[in-house]
Amino acid sequence: MADTYQIITKVWIAPGCIVCDACENDCPEVFDVTETTCLIRPPAMNVEFLKPLTPSIIVAAEGCPVDVIKFETIEVPGEAPWANLPVPTAAATAHAPVAAKVIVPMAPSDPKWQALLSNSKISPSLSAGLASTIRRSPEINQAEETVRSVKLPKDAPADQRMAMLAIGGAYTPAGTMGDRIRGKAKKASDAAKATRRQFSIALAVGWSMMAFVGVLFAGMFQDFFGPKVLKEAKKVYRVGKPEDFGNAGTVYDFKPSGFWIVNLQPDEGKLVALSIICTHLGCIPAWLEGDKKFKCPCHGSGYYITGINFEGPTPRPLERFAVSKDADGFLVVDESKVFRFELGEWENPESFYAIG
Ligand code: SF4
Ligand code: FES
Repeated sequence: MADTYQIITKVWIAPGCIVCDACENDCPEVFDVTETTCLIRPPAMNVEFLKPLTPSIIVAAEGCPVDVIKFETIEVPGEAPWANLPVPTAAATAHAPVAAKVIVPMAPSDPKWQALLSNSKISPSLSAGLASTIRRSPEINQAEETVRSVKLPKDAPADQRMAMLAIGGAYTPAGTMGDRIRGKAKKASDAAKATRRQFSIALAVGWSMMAFVGVLFAGMFQDFFGPKVLKEAKKVYRVGKPEDFGNAGTVYDFKPSGFWIVNLQPDEGKLVALSIICTHLGCIPAWLEGDKKFKCPCHGSGYYITGINFEGPTPRPLERFAVSKDADGFLVVDESKVFRFELGEWENPESFYAIG
């Protein structure tokens, strides 16, 4: 009986491609996997172009995990061109010279295909105006030559052909559909992890910036609206001898040092050091001799000569500092010791200097 063999005359992609890249790896001359689907390259519309690629196309179709690569074959008399090629061993494949390259005719350019595949890996050839050129890497060329050099029995079942190709090193069997899907799932998972990591970093940076801006505004708010309290360190002042403050009912001004020395006679036989800071919001009241009161210019709080508040929004009396006489007989005011009326601290002997 005369020899015959099958050649593929037409190949197409049925709906359902999952864009796994397997077919382009198996037969890049025919299959072009884009971002969304798999396309047949324009030259593959020509039967003469398809003929020598028949084994590769069959391998790609059998490796398609969703079985959407379809083709038509015709039976041709004679022996398959690739039937008598030697079966390469691993060593022979490594050292044997590569079989002569099969020259395949290029398909005439098809304007419709060119328009559809303007982003594909096929680019118009500069040297052949009526043809297209496939830019392939040396690795792909080597793989193609190896595929063609494998001797395939004409009546070998598909599984055996694939096994022989695999033994020859020309074809890496595709994983199961589950493996491929898991592989894609892992890629998607890795991408999702990377995306979550970037999102977490961006979130942390965003919160840090918001916290920084918040602290900045809080500081500005406090500085603008907060009490205008003097921030200098408290100090100890020697202010003079007790007899220098002997006039009853008199206020002696030591505002630059932060207090007044007040002679509370005749009501009380005491010299006290009153803080000049208004207990409302920190302004500095003035002593009004005619009214015999301290009056705050900011919101109108008023204090008696003792420091007790009696008008305006202030909630409590002025504070007093510790007063004592040192070894040389001078009065000393210590601003580090504060006495508050509402806490009953004005009874403390340190809060005044007794006179007369
Ligand atoms: S092997 Fe099948 S599913 Fe994968 S890209 Fe090719 S046609 Fe699509
Ligand atoms: S700060 Fe003195 S009354 Fe408001």
